[in-house]
Amino acid sequence: MTSEDKRRANYQNGHVPFPGIKTYVDPDTYEDPTQAVHEFTKEIDPSRIRIERVIGAGEFGEVCSGRLRTPGKKEIAVAIKTLKGGYVERQRRDFLREASIMGQFDHPNIIRLEGVVTKSRPVMIVVEYMENGSLDSFLRQHDGHFTVIQLVGMLRGIASGMKYLSDMGYVHRDLAARNILVNSNLVCKVSDFGLSRVLEDDPEAAYTTTGGKIPIRWTAPEAISYRKFSSASDAWSYAHKLDAPLKCVHVGPTATD
Ligand code: ADE
Repeated sequence: MTSEDKRRANYQNGHVPFPGIKTYVDPDTYEDPTQAVHEFTKEIDPSRIRIERVIGAGEFGEVCSGRLRTPGKKEIAVAIKTLKGGYVERQRRDFLREASIMGQFDHPNIIRLEGVVTKSRPVMIVVEYMENGSLDSFLRQHDGHFTVIQLVGMLRGIASGMKYLSDMGYVHRDLAARNILVNSNLVCKVSDFGLSRVLEDDPEAAYTTTGGKIPIRWTAPEAISYRKFSSASDAWSYAHKLDAPLKCVHVGPTATD
């Protein structure tokens, strides 16, 4: 393939050819979304995965914790999302769409995709393990135990992750504390790139006059009125769902107390 052919092929796949600037490619722009899974994710041999326990219920099946043996033989802690049996092709495609999105990102404040299992059952998405779970429950459980420095550090991390997503041209649409994961070092990472459930399953969602479902309390006015989601409406969500609530968290004793 000549470089011109490559450039054209990339363009047709949704890559915008700005040299040196990587932009997000919507897997739905692929005629065959399986191609996007191949392009943006790594297939993991299931023998490298050890599932240890169920830690939650995802939209498509159980979420488990476990260990992944890396090619260098080291074991790392992982979270494993599974696709429960009896799925139809559309569910498999929607499930794997999140992996195709996550696999394009590489940032310390974005949840890291380790890989996928698609060639055997159950189909799985394997991501880094975040010891402290979701930010909303973490804050509730430890209210009064954080210092201002720790809280501001968490906000900075999330802002940095969101800036990266915005630079990549990716709009999250459902930024909320429940979609942020926290690791053992209090590093916050943006997660939940499964666009399919955004408006249907959000507990805050309400029907608009046009019949659409939107998390009214926290959504930018232009997104409520005419579904104009953008990095600007993500920034609105950041301010209303993260910055303001985090400022309401009780601050714990400081070193000088
Ligand atoms: N729950 C959902 N995803 C998780 C992850 N990556 N780590 C820990 N708990 C999770």
